[in-house]
Amino acid sequence: MSDPRIIGYLNRALAHELSAVQQYLTQARLTALWDMESFSRDLRQEADEELAHADRVISRLLYYGIAPKGGSLSPVRLGRSKAELLLQNLDMEQDAIRLYEEAADYCRRRGAHEDAALFEAIRDEELDHLRGMEQQLFDERDGGRHG
Ligand SMILES: [Fe+2]
Ligand SMILES: [Fe+2]
Repeated sequence: MSDPRIIGYLNRALAHELSAVQQYLTQARLTALWDMESFSRDLRQEADEELAHADRVISRLLYYGIAPKGGSLSPVRLGRSKAELLLQNLDMEQDAIRLYEEAADYCRRRGAHEDAALFEAIRDEELDHLRGMEQQLFDERDGGRHG
């Protein structure tokens, strides 16, 4: 028997992950147009990692016998510079971390340990994304001052 709130969290997670794929793919293309090849490759890599998260969430929905229903995608958030894109992405990763914290917390309280473990594992990877982007933003600003 599946808990409707857990299914709700899985579908919200799916909407988030697919929105993140859309955002990073778009930014990867945009930054390629700006001739920022290395940053573009990083963004493409982020898109692949978010796709892998979506895949894991879909797998869990199928385990419950539920057809995935992620809902509508969030509009892509762009910017006019590498720093502006990174700030948008930090915001998105923070939203994801909040969602996964809340979902894992609920699952733990309900004794749904496998779901809690899934949400915690994805949250940890979003934390890695966040830290990587904070570093990139720091380097970008530092480079702006000294380079
Ligand atoms: Fe993700
Ligand atoms: Fe992420």
